Amino acid sequence: MLHHRLPLPPLLLALLLAVSCHDASSGDDNYDRNLCLWQNSTCGNINITYPFYLHNETAALRGYDNSYCGYPGLRILCEDRKAVLQLDDDNYTVSEINYKNFTISLAVADQEAFDDEGCPRLDYRTTIPPHLWLSYPEATVGYLIFFLCNFTTGNPPITMSPIPCSRYEGLGTSFVLPRDDVPDGDWQKTCQKIKVPVLKYVMSSYQQKHIAWSSAAYGNALRTGFQLVWEQERRETSFCNRCEKSSGRCGYNQMGEFVGCLCSDETVEDQYCSNSSASSTPSPRPSKSLRN
Ligand SMILES: *[C@@H]1O[C@H](CO)[C@@H](O)[C@H](O)[C@H]1NC(C)=O
Ligand SMILES: *[C@@H]1O[C@H](CO)[C@@H](O)[C@H](O)[C@H]1NC(C)=O
Ligand SMILES: *[C@@H]1O[C@H](CO)[C@@H](O)[C@H](O)[C@H]1NC(C)=O
Ligand SMILES: *[C@@H]1O[C@H](CO)[C@@H](O)[C@H](O)[C@H]1NC(C)=O
Ligand SMILES: *[C@@H]1O[C@H](CO)[C@@H](O)[C@H](O)[C@H]1NC(C)=O
Ligand SMILES: *[C@@H]1O[C@H](CO)[C@@H](O)[C@H](O)[C@H]1NC(C)=O
Ligand SMILES: *[C@@H]1O[C@H](CO)[C@@H](O)[C@H](O)[C@H]1NC(C)=O
Repeated sequence: MLHHRLPLPPLLLALLLAVSCHDASSGDDNYDRNLCLWQNSTCGNINITYPFYLHNETAALRGYDNSYCGYPGLRILCEDRKAVLQLDDDNYTVSEINYKNFTISLAVADQEAFDDEGCPRLDYRTTIPPHLWLSYPEATVGYLIFFLCNFTTGNPPITMSPIPCSRYEGLGTSFVLPRDDVPDGDWQKTCQKIKVPVLKYVMSSYQQKHIAWSSAAYGNALRTGFQLVWEQERRETSFCNRCEKSSGRCGYNQMGEFVGCLCSDETVEDQYCSNSSASSTPSPRPSKSLRN
C-alpha cells in the first residue's frame, strides 16, 4: 500500500514521515504479553483467566504506573496453590470463581475469622471502594449485625443472647443477629454496629430453627464465607466494551480508570484493536516505519 510507483515530492515524504513518527509515539505503545491472562491458568483447583489479573503482573501503561490487564478489583495472588483475592490490604481465599454468573466465592479461614478465644474478629471489609467493580450479590448474601453495646440504662431486648467475648471488654455486652431480625428500639443507641456479609442460605438454616445465635451458629456462618459479584454492567457502559468486542483486553490504572486497550499483538491502543491485530498471532511486530 505504501509502495507508490511515482516518486513522492520531498515535502509530502517529509510530512508522511512526521505523521508516522507521531503515530508511533502516541497511538501505538507496546506492553508485555504476560500482563494479560490470555490463556486460562489455574491456581490450585481454581481457574483464573481475564478479567482477573495476577497481583504481580502490573506495568506502566501510557504513563500510569502499576496499571493492569483486567477489571478493577479482580486482583489475584496465587501462593502455595491457593488463590487469594486482594481487596486493598485484605486477603480472602477464593473457593470458586463462576464465570457464568460472575460470582466469586470467598472462604474465610479460621485464623482470619476468629481469635484464640474463638471470638469473631470483626474487621471484614464490608464497604467496597466505589472504583472497584465488585459488589455483594443480593441473591445470595445477607448480613449479620454484631452489636457491641455499652448499656448504662435499660437492657437489651430479651430475644438477644449475649456473646461472651473478652475481646470487646470495656464496651459491655455484645450481641449478634441477622439484619432482618434486629428488634426496633432505643437499645441500639449505645451500641457500635458491625455488619458482616454471610451467605443467606447458611443464615436461614438457623433462622428457620428459631434458635438463638449461639457461637456455633455465627461461627458456622462466618466460616462459610461470602460471595462477591463482578459488575459486568460497568464494562458495558464504558470504553472496555468496545475494546473487548475487538478482541482486546482492558487496561486500568490504580484509580480504576481505563488507560488503553491491550491487543493480542502486544500493542496498546486508545480504544480498540484493529481487525488485523486481533486476528494475527503473537509474532514479531511488522515494521511500521516508512524508512527502507
Ligand atoms: C477458559 O476458562 C473459561 C472460564 O472457565 C471458559 O469459559 C473457557 O472456555 C476456557 N477456555 C479454554 C480455552 O479453556
Ligand atoms: C478449568 O478449566 C479446564 C479447562 O478449561 C476445565 O476442564 C475444568 O473443568 C475447569 N475447572 C473448573 C473448576 O472450572
Ligand atoms: C507472577 O506470579 C506468577 C504465579 O504466581 C508467576 O508465574 C509469574 O512469573 C510472576 N510474574 C512476575 C513478573 O513475577
Ligand atoms: C496478604 O497477603 C500478602 C502476601 O502473602 C501479604 O504480604 C499481606 O501482608 C497480606 N495482607 C494481610 C492484611 O494479611
Ligand atoms: C452462581 O452460580 C453458582 C453455581 O451455580 C452458585 O453457587 C452461586 O450462588 C450463583 N451466584 C449468584 C449470585 O447467583
Ligand atoms: C460506657 O458508658 C459509660 C457511662 O456512660 C462511659 O463512662 C464509658 O466510657 C462507656 N464506655 C465505652 C467503651 O464507650
Ligand atoms: C472490523 O471489521 C468489521 C467488518 O469486517 C467492521 O464492521 C468493523 O468496523 C471493524 N472494526 C474495527 C475496529 O476496525
